[in-house]
Amino acid sequence: MVNNIKKILVATTNPGKLKEISEMLDFDITWLSLKDFPGIKEIEEDGKTFAENARKKALGYAKQTNLWTLADDSGLVIDALGGAPGVTSARFSLAPTPVVGVSPANTLAGSQSKNRTLLDHKNMAKVLTLLKDVPKQKRTARFVCCLCLACPEPVEGASPQKVLIETEGKLQGIIAENPAGSNGFGYDPIFFVPQLKKTVAQLQSAEKNNISHRGQAIKKLKPLLQKLLETN
Ligand code: IMP
Repeated sequence: MVNNIKKILVATTNPGKLKEISEMLDFDITWLSLKDFPGIKEIEEDGKTFAENARKKALGYAKQTNLWTLADDSGLVIDALGGAPGVTSARFSLAPTPVVGVSPANTLAGSQSKNRTLLDHKNMAKVLTLLKDVPKQKRTARFVCCLCLACPEPVEGASPQKVLIETEGKLQGIIAENPAGSNGFGYDPIFFVPQLKKTVAQLQSAEKNNISHRGQAIKKLKPLLQKLLETN
């Protein structure tokens, strides 16, 4: 077995994401993050799909660092909103549709957490407003995560040549009428998982990681990465 790959960059500045990925992908690898490259040029996430954004980031940072690079893009897809917020999940409330008559503080009382940002609150408030008259059976949604591992130089057998692995994970649920729970981040308080009868914000982090879209995508990537490390 050859293993010349000693370091892989995870294209994130989020220490939580780095920890989750490096713990689940427990190979003999030093996992770096973008914090290890202070002057690096940020790659814009302007793709139309999660997969496109993950690929763009993985290729862009691999080129700049000369390292194998693992990138992800994720977000919330709501059927009744035609797939929105989708790739705009992080900044949904900043997009043109106004949030009329909704105060995030009132609407989302009970979902307070030191990790929850004002933007998270506004994003959730906008979703709840848009779904105000949508009945429960039509509030279906999913969290989606796309991962891409890319390398700086073409590798034989990789397709396209610098893209080594691409995987996708999903978590199905429904958008609750009111937020509940204080764990997690983003849309977790309004994302209800029917089989657990809880919102994601009511789960402990280990429970969330076990079922989450990111966890699913990492689990699919693991055997493929193991195979690659055995031959490179
Ligand atoms: P990122 O691609 O992981 O940065 O996620 C983009 C946005 O999608 C986040 O800012 C959140 O609004 C939303 N999102 C992604 N994953 C989750 C999750 O596990 N829980 C709640 N919101 C999420």
